[in-house]
Amino acid sequence: MAYDVNGVRKQFPALDEGAAHFDGPGGSQVPTVVGEAVAAALTAAIANRGSVTAAERRADGIVAAARAAAADLLGAEPGGVVFGRSMTQLTYDFSRALAKQWAPGDEIVVTRLDHDANIRPWVQAARAREVTVRWADFDPVSGELPVEAVTGLLSERTRLVAVTAASNLLGTRPAIPAITARARAAGALSYVDGVHLAAHGPVDMVALGADFFACSPYKFLGPHLGLVAAPPAVLETLRPDKLLPSTDAVPERFELGTLPYELLAGTTAAIDFLANLVPGDGPRRDRLLTSMRALEAHEDALLKQLDAGLAEIPAVTRYGSPTRHRTPTVLFSINGMPSAAVYEQLGQRGVNAPAGSFYAIECSRHLGLGDTGAVRAGIAPYTNAADVDRLVTAVRELAAGR
Ligand SMILES: Cc1ncc(COP(=O)(O)O)c(C=O)c1O
Repeated sequence: MAYDVNGVRKQFPALDEGAAHFDGPGGSQVPTVVGEAVAAALTAAIANRGSVTAAERRADGIVAAARAAAADLLGAEPGGVVFGRSMTQLTYDFSRALAKQWAPGDEIVVTRLDHDANIRPWVQAARAREVTVRWADFDPVSGELPVEAVTGLLSERTRLVAVTAASNLLGTRPAIPAITARARAAGALSYVDGVHLAAHGPVDMVALGADFFACSPYKFLGPHLGLVAAPPAVLETLRPDKLLPSTDAVPERFELGTLPYELLAGTTAAIDFLANLVPGDGPRRDRLLTSMRALEAHEDALLKQLDAGLAEIPAVTRYGSPTRHRTPTVLFSINGMPSAAVYEQLGQRGVNAPAGSFYAIECSRHLGLGDTGAVRAGIAPYTNAADVDRLVTAVRELAAGR
């Protein structure tokens, strides 16, 4: 069955306000079922997790359901899914836990393609342990991060490779399986930032070869939350700081304090929604793969439309190669016009496409865009051809000084 974007759009009350949303890479809009699931969990009888009262069992069930849903989304094990406030917070937590195993003179690899959330926690943890940081550079013209740019930095002292599965600025998708395989062969763990990828296509952690895969439900139609998936056996090797009475079991060992049950319920609802983008039968993992492939095809078609439209406007400069396989995310500027002004004037026309570095600050600087960045347009599950037309028309008018 084909992807029914009109049917999908009807389920997003936010779209009734009329804006064309290209701000999805910063956080997507949310379907009604997700809001309902959050409200239902908040207003039902609920207690701390346990097995004695119905209220305790409800909390326990919500957590178990969210771990199972996230595992289905990523091809991970439910027992290896760790929830936290955001990907940034979780990555800081994991950086400290992993750094306990590092010794002075060890090395880690980070990339300039990454969002700062997959750079700075590692750089700061490395500094605290006298560990050397090796920086992998992408090609600022094509926006590509060649495998060798990362693997050429590996040595027998490398403990960790932190790399993005998709750039939130350029949409570049590095060849993660090749990078993680070489990292593993060198004895290093890999921490893959999947925040931008998970919203746009099927994910298979095992095929990616990621020891850790981080993402954030609020980027894929869910509530504001982060999660990290890892094989439980890998989590067992880590000893994060934790309270004395809190459980030492995996994955709870990494989840500090009480989990936000209502947001976990919303996460499960978002993943179920994704699984139903193309209605079907069978296990949720299979439905997710089918739906996410259909979503990818839908978004790729809109990306082609957007690329073609922007290419016809001579005053538009776009960053990264439009021909490579990437997520449907376009970074551009209009010659002679500050990107902040483009952002503002697009907003006045009901087209939401913000400007900035979007915290991919190393990436923005390496592109020559400094800390200011450029305008980013991201396609989301609810984007349609009319939205893309609105964006291209508005950019054409601004470029013509209208
Ligand atoms: C690629 C990427 N990584 C990490 C993050 C940080 O995610 P969070 O807001 O959950 O900390 C973002 C958020 O924009 C992102 O786009």
